[in-house]
Amino acid sequence: MAYAITQTCCNDASCVAVCPVNCIHPTPDEPDFGTTDMLYIDPRSCIDCGACADACPVEAIFPVDTLSESLKPYADVNARFYDGKPVSGDVLGSSPVFHNWGAPTFDRTISSDFPALDVAVVGSGPAGMYAVEDLLLHTSARVTLIDRLDVAGGLIRFGVAPDHPSTKRIDETFARYREHPRLTLRLGVEVGRDVTVDELAARHDAVIYAVGASSAKSLGIEGEQLPGSVAATDVVSWYNGHPDAGHPDASRDVVDLSSQRAVLIGNGNVALDVARILSSDPGGLEATSISRDALARLRSSSVREVVLLARRGPEHAAYTEPELLALTRHPDFDVVVDSHDDRVAKAIDAAEPGEKAQLLRSLVQEPVDWSAPPVGGRRRIVLRFHSSPLEVLGGDRVTGLRTSGTESDVDIAAGSVVRAVGYRGVGVPGLPYDEAAGTIPNTAGRVQGRDGTYVVGWIKRGPSGGIGANKTCAQETVAALLDDVRSNRVQPRQPRKRAGLLRRA
Ligand SMILES: Cc1cc2nc3c(=O)[nH]c(=O)nc-3n(C[C@H](O)[C@H](O)[C@H](O)COP(=O)(O)OP(=O)(O)OC[C@H]3O[C@@H](n4cnc5c(N)ncnc54)[C@H](O)[C@@H]3O)c2cc1C
Ligand SMILES: NC(=O)c1ccc[n+]([C@@H]2O[C@H](COP(=O)([O-])OP(=O)(O)OC[C@H]3O[C@@H](n4cnc5c(N)ncnc54)[C@H](OP(=O)(O)O)[C@@H]3O)[C@@H](O)[C@H]2O)c1
Ligand code: SF4
Ligand code: SF4
Repeated sequence: MAYAITQTCCNDASCVAVCPVNCIHPTPDEPDFGTTDMLYIDPRSCIDCGACADACPVEAIFPVDTLSESLKPYADVNARFYDGKPVSGDVLGSSPVFHNWGAPTFDRTISSDFPALDVAVVGSGPAGMYAVEDLLLHTSARVTLIDRLDVAGGLIRFGVAPDHPSTKRIDETFARYREHPRLTLRLGVEVGRDVTVDELAARHDAVIYAVGASSAKSLGIEGEQLPGSVAATDVVSWYNGHPDAGHPDASRDVVDLSSQRAVLIGNGNVALDVARILSSDPGGLEATSISRDALARLRSSSVREVVLLARRGPEHAAYTEPELLALTRHPDFDVVVDSHDDRVAKAIDAAEPGEKAQLLRSLVQEPVDWSAPPVGGRRRIVLRFHSSPLEVLGGDRVTGLRTSGTESDVDIAAGSVVRAVGYRGVGVPGLPYDEAAGTIPNTAGRVQGRDGTYVVGWIKRGPSGGIGANKTCAQETVAALLDDVRSNRVQPRQPRKRAGLLRRA
């Protein structure tokens, strides 16, 4: 009986290095690494040693025969990845032998006289922490880790949904580095408010900005600013108890829970998170890290139906397979597909195993009367494809959303409209900023026009990719920094000129 990787996999590849028979793929040096929704264990080669499960920071790996009912489908998800592929690892016939690791190779060589750098890392989310980890483990650098919030963790703490506790557990791995003797932690310090970019640069040999993407994209449609029309960023902050005091919506009920239907625009994993939290039995959220205020309000929620509106078809859905699979097997609600457009059924019928549209084959497809209140019975999530948002409807507040339909526009009656169409980076005063992309312009992490200044994570690449994607991103940025020191593009200052405490203004 093999092991299998399940829903919470964040692609950080910690398991790959420990597998003695090399049966977890794609590995970071294979071309499809970073393009798959998760990593997969080849059940034909797995020898059941359990090393991967011990190494996984988010508890995503289990023996197949112990999988809970909701995780059972992941055994097939793992196996299917290997359909038609040769057996993984070094195998003799069908029986795996222990991997012949060969001579060790080191991608990065640090000479013994490499200077001990003073590096500031701004942002304690995954990208900042992977950069910190790389610097502390592979160089003798001293690191100052800065975050504007009083709590470290970035989106692990304030983005990842409270009903994903094992994903949040990855912060325990990062916390080890926050206590490292060569790291100084400065929480509650905002670059641009408490310290300037130039001040930080003057006090350190290099500065890495890992400030994420904290604002929301807008749609630019009429009615978007009406009360009751909100961004998913605000809803996520609300249920995660974001401490940002200046946040206008953080302390109140940002979603109108008094109406029976809410519409979410977009069908990425953030939309799935919000839909799941709004539709779950609040009792099941009691033991999670959900904000007590949000939980209290969810207990009196009238929302019976959450609609996920996608402008494209099910074959192009933005959610990942593990997250959609978990949604469809959730015990608290049903998931159905709005059958309004023939292309939806056709795409689902034509999909091959492993393709996105195929994931919906087991779901009920039915027409929905959008002018009427939701049907009674269990709570449900309705997936509506091939339908674009045209206008948020309402006078004083939201009463619905006008969407494109097959023959004419369709008005969906709803008390809340949540746009989950993506996050957006915010510029740091003193650094260049690409307004269109919402990123800091850079080449392989080097900020353009500012030697010694680097970026990593969502502010470098844009707001996409799970936690693990920031690991390779951080490796690239740190490699650029070290190359710049080697080539004298960045010159470490003399020790006596270092230091200076950062003080909050
Ligand atoms: C709602 C949501 C749920 C998610 N859930 C998952 C999941 O379950 N699994 C998964 O694999 N991925 C998940 N992701 C993706 C994952 O969270 C991101 O890949 C990751 O957080 C990006 O890391 P980052 O470090 O670039 O940004 P962030 O995590 O946003 O970290 C940025 C940090 O910078 C700090 N900061 C910003 N500006 C300043 C400043 N001027 N001065 C000082 N500090 C500053 C912020 O306070 C923050 O701590 C989710 C994303 C979202 C939005
Ligand atoms: N593993 C997890 O549990 C988890 C949880 C949350 C987030 N994340 C990750 O975090 C990243 C960000 O997630 P996200 O959901 O914010 O972004 P996303 O995956 O990019 O999804 C954005 C969604 O918004 C839609 N959209 C964008 N502009 C639109 C417009 N003008 N009109 C209508 N729809 C529009 C997109 O549709 P199109 O596809 O048609 O553009 C897409 O459905 C992703 O990589 C995600 O996987 C992971
Ligand atoms: S989260 Fe990392 S260690 Fe765990 S299964 Fe996924 S890639 Fe492997
Ligand atoms: S249980 Fe052992 S052999 Fe199987 S995938 Fe994990 S590390 Fe590899």
